[in-house]
Amino acid sequence: MGALFRHYWLPALLAEELPDNDCPPVRVKLLSERLIAFRDSDGRTGLIDEFCAHRGVSLWFGRNEEGGLRCPYHGWKYDITGQCIEVPSEPPDSRFCQKIKLANYPLVRIGDILWTYMGDKAKTPPTPEWEFALVPPEQSYTSKRWQECNWLQAMEGGIDSSHVSWLHSGALKSDPLFRGAKGNVYNQRDLMPFFEVTDADGGLFIGARRNAEGGQYYWRITPWVMPNFTMVPPRGDHPVHGHFWVPIDDENCWTWSFDYHPVRTLTGAERRAMIDGYGVHVKYVPGTYRPLANKDNDYLMDRDAQKRGDTYSGVEGIAIQDASLQESMGPIADRTKENLVATDNGIIMARHRLRRALQRLQETGETPPGVDPKHHRVRSAAVVLPADKSYIDACREDLTVRPGVKQTSV
Ligand code: FES
Ligand SMILES: [Fe+2]
Repeated sequence: MGALFRHYWLPALLAEELPDNDCPPVRVKLLSERLIAFRDSDGRTGLIDEFCAHRGVSLWFGRNEEGGLRCPYHGWKYDITGQCIEVPSEPPDSRFCQKIKLANYPLVRIGDILWTYMGDKAKTPPTPEWEFALVPPEQSYTSKRWQECNWLQAMEGGIDSSHVSWLHSGALKSDPLFRGAKGNVYNQRDLMPFFEVTDADGGLFIGARRNAEGGQYYWRITPWVMPNFTMVPPRGDHPVHGHFWVPIDDENCWTWSFDYHPVRTLTGAERRAMIDGYGVHVKYVPGTYRPLANKDNDYLMDRDAQKRGDTYSGVEGIAIQDASLQESMGPIADRTKENLVATDNGIIMARHRLRRALQRLQETGETPPGVDPKHHRVRSAAVVLPADKSYIDACREDLTVRPGVKQTSV
C-alpha cells in the first residue's frame, strides 16, 4: 500500500508550520520515512531526509540560514532539494559536495497545506485540485491531528455514515457546526439507513438512505476518492467538512480535517468554533498537534455525561468520539474477527477498490484512480428525493464541483 500512496500528492504539513523564511526546521514522518521540512532564506520549501549524509546526525538540530540547512556537527550544508552545497572540511576545489544528495521530495503550498509527492519524479502528477484548497482562504479552514492507529481503520470510519445516528447523536444537537439542520432530524429518527454504493472514476459515492416525510427519502452521499479522501455530506448552510488520512507509519496516521463553504466567507463564529475544536476539529495539547483528549487520559471519558445522554459515548467532541473508538480497535484492527453487516457496504467496496488498484499497479503499472486531478472535483450532498428516484442519477451535478454554486444540502 505504501507503493500505491507514492502515486499521490499527500498533505505533509500545515502552511503555519513553516511560517517564515529561515524558520526552525520541522520533523515529518510519512510512509515510515523520517524527513525534515524547511523553508530557506528565499522562502522556498523542501522536504529532505532527516539525517545528515556525513555521520547521520538529525538535521532537526541544524542551522537554517543563508540558503540552506547546516548540520551542527561538522557543518555540512544542504539546500531544499537535499543537494549538499558545502563540506567545509574539504578543499573548496574538490567538488566533493556535488556528489552528496539526500532523499528529497517537493513541498508545494495549495490552500493552507504544504503537499508532497513521494513517488517516481518522472511520473509526478499535476498538483491537487480539491475544492476546499482552491477557494479563497477566507472560505476555508484546515487542521490536522495525530491519530494512534493505522490510517485504514480511521478512513473506514469516515465512510461509515451509519455510526452518526449513534456515536454523534449528542453532537448533532449541541455542536455549533452541526446543530439546527433539518437533516439532523432524519438522522436521528431513522436508525436503519440503507446503503447504496456507486462506483466513481476516482473511487466511490456512498449513499445512505433514511426515511423522510411523505414517503420520500433523505439521502446522505459521501464521495470517497482513492486512497484516503472523503467528504462528509453537508448539513443546512454549515460549512462542509472532510478528511484525509495520511500514514505516518503502519500504526499512526495524520487525520487532516478541512471545513469550507463553496460560496461564502466563514463567519467569525464559525472560524472561532473550528479553532476551539468543535465540529471535526480538536483541542490540542498546547504546542503540538496531539489531541488534548487522547489515549493516555482515556479521552477524558465522562461517565455522567454518558448516563445523562449529553454525549452518547461519554467522550466529548465529534473528532475524538471517532478517534477514541478507532484507536480502541488496536493499532491495526484485526479484520479476521469482524462480522460485517449491510451498513458496512461502503467499507467493503472501498477495500475492494483499494485491493484492485494495488493489484493492477503491481501487475501492469496502471496509474491508480484518484491521481488525476479531475477525480478531485467531487462534492458531498444531502438531499430529499421521491422514493422512485435514483440518487446517483438525480444528483450527478450536485456531486460535482461547480464554482460559484453552493452545496446541495438539507
Ligand atoms: S554528521 Fe553532519 S556534518 Fe558531520
Ligand atoms: Fe464519526
